[in-house]
Amino acid sequence: MASAPLRFGLVGTGYWARITHAPALAAAPDIELAAVWGRSADAAAALAGTYGAGAHSGAGELGAFLDAVDGVAFAVPPDVQAPIAVAAARAGKHLMLEKPLATSVAGADEVASAVAESGVASVVFFTLMFRADIRAWLAEVTARGGWLTGLTTWFGSSLGESSPFNTPWRREKGALWDIAPHAVSLLWAALGPVTGVTADAGPADVSHLILHHEGGASSTVTVSQHGGEAASGFETYLWGPSGRSAAPAGNTDALAPLGIALGELTSNIRAGVSAHPCDAAFGRDVGHVISEAQRQIDVRAG
Ligand SMILES: NC(=O)c1ccc[n+]([C@@H]2O[C@H](COP(=O)([O-])OP(=O)(O)OC[C@H]3O[C@@H](n4cnc5c(N)ncnc54)[C@H](OP(=O)(O)O)[C@@H]3O)[C@@H](O)[C@H]2O)c1
Repeated sequence: MASAPLRFGLVGTGYWARITHAPALAAAPDIELAAVWGRSADAAAALAGTYGAGAHSGAGELGAFLDAVDGVAFAVPPDVQAPIAVAAARAGKHLMLEKPLATSVAGADEVASAVAESGVASVVFFTLMFRADIRAWLAEVTARGGWLTGLTTWFGSSLGESSPFNTPWRREKGALWDIAPHAVSLLWAALGPVTGVTADAGPADVSHLILHHEGGASSTVTVSQHGGEAASGFETYLWGPSGRSAAPAGNTDALAPLGIALGELTSNIRAGVSAHPCDAAFGRDVGHVISEAQRQIDVRAG
């Protein structure tokens, strides 16, 4: 007999929760979107009502929310996500996390430790890592090998006045925390684990990272969320003696990649497997790179 779908709860009721996490959870074959938690009771009730899920709000209802689910998906700012993820992992709930895990070393470490200690399954939604075209490119370039460097530039427009992503945490932390985790995850997969970073920043939310990879390759990342739509763009390529290889172009579809991420998370839950290439431990490691970059940028800024 087929088992009942896994019950997932969604933490967050904002734009990203509404347009991506809720529909992806509702469409996932082995998931029932069973509960929604938000700080606003009205927003939680509205989103939960769309999917026939239970609504929970405020710190006082977090326990009841966790009791109602097997897994939790997050669409809240990173430093709101981290402590709820720790509580959820300790309660034995599996985690569909957002990048960055947190915006501090301690916050990211706490999530990764709680996940490791409880043995729950976790996946962090580094969107590029769940795109079928990017995965095909990564399979090809890693099989070919011999790359000496990689370059990523990613200019977004989320800090534009009319963007739904112009949210308080993003205004405060900028593209270094919002976009660079995606770029670091991609270059990590293409060139090997990142062993060190050198960072500096310029005006208009621009951050520059030089990454050093195990095995000797280096790479660079330049990001900003300050430009307008016309200035937006994503570009990554690898370079080596045998030539250049460009990653597939940027693309705003997150629903299909999140569906893949949820599928891999639920397969791991069913199989009793907690490790995943993009699990909480990987999210912590990427977070350490970004934290060190932030530290250097702050020192240089005086
Ligand atoms: N992987 C991707 O491609 C991708 C793309 C976009 C976003 N994201 C991630 O999604 C997450 C959410 O990003 P966002 O910019 O959409 O965030 P946001 O709008 O700032 O927050 C979304 C939700 O968090 C709630 N919230 C904010 N502060 C809170 C607090 N102190 N306590 C409880 N709830 C709080 C908001 O509640 P209210 O509605 O009441 O304000 C809203 O429901 C981030 O981790 C971001 O990196 C990932």
